[in-house]
This record gives sequence, structure tokens and C-alpha cells, in this order.
Amino acid sequence: MEAIAKFPHRAPENSLPRGCTFEEEDWHILAKHWYPVALIRDIESSGLLSATLLDEKLVIYKAGSDIVVANDICTHRGVPLSMGSNHDCLGVRCPYHGLQFGQDGKCIKVPAHPDNAIPGKLHLTAYPVILRYGLVWTCLRPSADGQDEKMPFMPHWDEAGFQQINCPAFDIAGFAGRQVEGFLDVAHFAFIHTDTFADAENPLVPNYRPQPTEYGFEAKYYSDVPNYPNGVENTAPEGFVWLRHFRCFPPFTAQLTVHFPDEGRLSILNAASPVSARKTRLFCPIARNFDTDLPVQDVYDFNARVFAEDAAMVEQQRPEQLPLDPKMEAHIPADVSSIAYRRALSKLGLSRFFIA
Ligand code: FES
Ligand SMILES: [Fe+2]
Repeated sequence: MEAIAKFPHRAPENSLPRGCTFEEEDWHILAKHWYPVALIRDIESSGLLSATLLDEKLVIYKAGSDIVVANDICTHRGVPLSMGSNHDCLGVRCPYHGLQFGQDGKCIKVPAHPDNAIPGKLHLTAYPVILRYGLVWTCLRPSADGQDEKMPFMPHWDEAGFQQINCPAFDIAGFAGRQVEGFLDVAHFAFIHTDTFADAENPLVPNYRPQPTEYGFEAKYYSDVPNYPNGVENTAPEGFVWLRHFRCFPPFTAQLTVHFPDEGRLSILNAASPVSARKTRLFCPIARNFDTDLPVQDVYDFNARVFAEDAAMVEQQRPEQLPLDPKMEAHIPADVSSIAYRRALSKLGLSRFFIA
């Protein structure tokens, strides 16, 4: 589906969500970036969803061919619109007095006064939307032209011969920064992923070096740890070296391309959407050019197991937030990507302790 970007009724510049769990300055920095809030297929099938992004409660609804993301609060008497209905997919209808909201969050119907003009103050605070990688992305505080904060990039998604797979969203009771750092971490495979793909006998991490890029940084990691699910025969030729090419798009998106034998490629986007400072909804589009005839349910199931292995760590890490002060945790040489990630977050201006 083509990307669309709209810039309807803007939120007041300095307002924070009710019950915000972030430091005020951190929130305003994070709110300038784009995050996914739903799978396109879910909103296409239901017409109406709710989500929370950076503590802001959102309603997502269909209005004709548009998908609208707006504050989940009726401008009339404050009822959550996600409690309403959208039977005809022309816009969400509030359950309390039946006001209906359509494209761009505009109020299009006041049933008590059908012949009156509709005042602009009834329109919702709506946010720009981009549809990409099977996901609905939004930004709570876009710049005037919407162009200064770039969207993450996922190689191979639109290439011929690649299958597009979108895993169901996965909820984590932990901070997005801890989750993304774990995705970039290559030293934990042999300890927590042994039930899914890793080899407990192979914990070594060969040297690798992250390189800065225009969007953040990348790291090419070569090792002999195969990427086949446990139970699937390792058909890689003797001595095959696996390349895992990571890209990091601060603050909370990373991407990994795994280079399989015979030019096989597995591209995974790890888009950690920060629900709050202590909750994360992980979206994970995948593109691959092999096994394209195998059931996608197997991919969903396998990845859900890998995510659960990671979440078991991320949900228990203390402090819950990611310390950006390099002296707060000890590091080993395998952590060069983690350190690059923390530096990239610092460069965005986030506070050193990233207080939640
Ligand atoms: S509270 Fe929504 S229509 Fe009155
Ligand atoms: Fe992991």
C-alpha cells in the first residue's frame, strides 16, 4: 500500500499526555520520531482499534480509504472513542451522543443537530500517518513539513522474490531501549536462545565494529552461529560464515539482514513502539527470499518464542530504563553495538539516566 502523510489538527506544542511516565524533555525528543501503532491488516479487518504511544492514548479508525490516528478522547464529553463503533468504516461514532468523526479527525455528524454547521472545535486532535512495511506509523509531534525525522528503512521488503510477513505485535513489560539493545546484542544467543536457534557450545563473539551512518549506525557481524531453527537440518556448506548485518535507527528501531547460503536473505525489522517508559509493543515485519511456500504461522510461532526468550530478560533488567551514563553498567568487548546505541541515544539529547 502506498504511503500517505497528512498533517491535520496539531496537538498543542508543549502539552504532555496525562500520567506521562517520561521525563518531560525526553518525551518531547521522543515524540518527534515515527513509531508503528498497529498492523494495517488489523485495522483493515476491524475498522477501529486503540493504541498507546508514549503514554498518549490513541484511537485508530478507517474513514473511507483513509486510516486516521487521533487522540482517543471525544471532544464533546471526553469518552474514549475506541469504545464506539465504525460499522460502515466511514468514521468512528462515539457511544455517548453519537458524534461521528471522519477523515483527518473531522467531526462529520452531530445527530442532535443534523441541520447545524459543525464547529471546528469538535474536530479531533489527529496525527500524520504513514503506511509502510504492513504497519500504521505515526508521529505525535511532527515538524511542519514532516520531513526532518526520517522513517526507518527495511531492505528487501519490496523486492521481487521476497515474501512479506508481519508477525502479530508482541507486548513486553519493559522499556523499548532495553529491548532494542537486546536485539543488537550478539553475546546472548548461546544462553537464552538455545531452545530456538543458538548453540549453547558456541558462546564466542568474534570482533566486529559498528560504523556510523546517516541514520544511526550499522554493524556487520560475522560468526559461525547458524540461523536455522533448532530441529531444522543445517544445510550450510562446511565452513560457511554467517553474516548478520545490523542497522540501528535511533531511538527504537533496528533492522537485521541475515545472509544465508545460496544468496538467501532474511530481513527483520525490530520496531519497538514505546507504549510508556515501562511497556513496549514490538512490531516485526519480515521479508525472505527462501522457504516462501512454507506456512507463515510457523514464522509467527518461531518468532514469538524468540521474543519471549528476550522478554524474559528485558522485563527483569534493573534499572528498567537504559542508563546512558557509560559508568553506570560494566561493559565487555562484545558490547560495541550496545555502546554505539547508547551514544546514539545521548546524541538525540536524551537524559543520561533516561529516567522512567
Ligand atoms: S461524549 Fe462523545 S458524543 Fe458526547
Ligand atoms: Fe535475543
